Amino acid sequence: MSKSLELTLEDRTLLVTKPTGPQRRFHYVWLRDNCWCAECRVEQTAERRLLTWSIPQDIRPNTVDAVEGGIVIDWNDQHRSTFSLDWLEANDYSQASLKRAREQATLWGGDFEVPRFAHESVVDGGAGQLAYFNAVQEFGVAIVESVPTVPGEVERFAKTVGHVREVAFERVHNVYHDPEGYNVAHTPLELKPHSDMPSYHWPPSIQLLHFLANDADGGESVVVDGWHALAKLREANPDAFEILTRVPVPYQLFSEDEDTYAVAPMVQLGHDGEVATFRFSNQLALPISIDFEMVEPFYDAYRELGEIIDSDDAKVVFKARNGDLLTVHGHRVLHGRMPFIPGTGARHLQDVYMEFDDFMAKRRVLMGIHKPMSSGALR
Ligand SMILES: [Fe+2]
Ligand SMILES: [Zn+2]
Repeated sequence: MSKSLELTLEDRTLLVTKPTGPQRRFHYVWLRDNCWCAECRVEQTAERRLLTWSIPQDIRPNTVDAVEGGIVIDWNDQHRSTFSLDWLEANDYSQASLKRAREQATLWGGDFEVPRFAHESVVDGGAGQLAYFNAVQEFGVAIVESVPTVPGEVERFAKTVGHVREVAFERVHNVYHDPEGYNVAHTPLELKPHSDMPSYHWPPSIQLLHFLANDADGGESVVVDGWHALAKLREANPDAFEILTRVPVPYQLFSEDEDTYAVAPMVQLGHDGEVATFRFSNQLALPISIDFEMVEPFYDAYRELGEIIDSDDAKVVFKARNGDLLTVHGHRVLHGRMPFIPGTGARHLQDVYMEFDDFMAKRRVLMGIHKPMSSGALR
C-alpha cells in the first residue's frame, strides 16, 4: 500500500493520493494539531495536551514518508507525527460530502402518530431506551406509556434518562385546575401550541409531562413540529422568516417565588444556518420595543407563522391516557391542550424539565460511542 501512496507537499497542505478513490488534502496546521503522540495527547483519555495556539504559523513538514498503513511526518518544529491512513480517511474534511452534518431530523405534520414506548423497556436501558432516545432525536416527541400513576414518578423516570433541570417552578411541577394558580395552565382554558420557559436565555430543551389522571371531558393534547412550521414559513416567505430570527421579543414568566425574564428572537439559527432554538409563547410575550418601522413587518411575520402552527395541517391532537408520559424537545416541538370541563373528572399532570444534551449523552453510550476518540497514530 505504501508504495502506491503518493504524497505531495503543497504550499500549506499535504495532498494524499491513492491509485483509487478521491484525492485528500490536509492543512499542515490541522495535521500538526491532531498529532496523537504521548506528548501531544493525554494517553489515557485522548484529550489534547498540545496547545493549539502554540503551533507556529509557518508549520510545515521537513519530510513526509509513506510507510505501511500510513504516513510519518517530520515537522519543522522538530516534532514527529504518525498518522494511519484509516484515520486520515475517516477524518478527511476536504470532500464536501464527508463534512459532518447535523444529525437528521424528520419533520412531521398533523397526520403524524407520536411514537409510543413501553415504560419497562425504556427504564431497563439497552435497546428499548435507545429506541426512545432515537425517536426524541428524530421527531422531537415520544410517549412512554403505562408509567405508574404515582405522584413523583416523572422524576424517577427522569433520573433514568438524564438529569432534572430545576426552574422557577417546583422541581416537579403540578398542573391541575386551580383558581388561585399563577399560570394559565392552572385554568381550564385552551392552551395554544407553545414552548415553555421562553423567559430563560436557554429554555429547557426537554419537557416531560406525566398524565397521572386525564379523566375530565376535553383536555386533548396537541403537539406541533415547530421546526416544520418554520421550514414552511422559510419556503413561502424567506423575509418573514428572517425577521423572526432578528427581532428581539421579551418574555416573562413568574411563579410564587421567582420572576424570569429574557429577550430573544423567536428563532435562533445554529452554525449550519438551520433552526436551533424556537420560542413560541403567545401568552408570555411582553410588549415588543423595536425599531419603529419593524413593528408591522414583525406582526405580519408572526401572523403568517401563527396561522401555519394553529392549522389542522400542523396539529397532532390526541387524548393522552392515564400513565402516558409525553416527552417533547423544548426547542423544537410545541405542546398545548384543548379546553377541559372542570368537575367532569380528575385531571392531574406532573412535569419536569431536562436537557436534550443529557439525553443525547446517554444515547451515545447506548450507541457504543463512549470511549476516547480512536488514535490516529500508526501502531
Ligand atoms: Fe406548557
Ligand atoms: Zn505529537
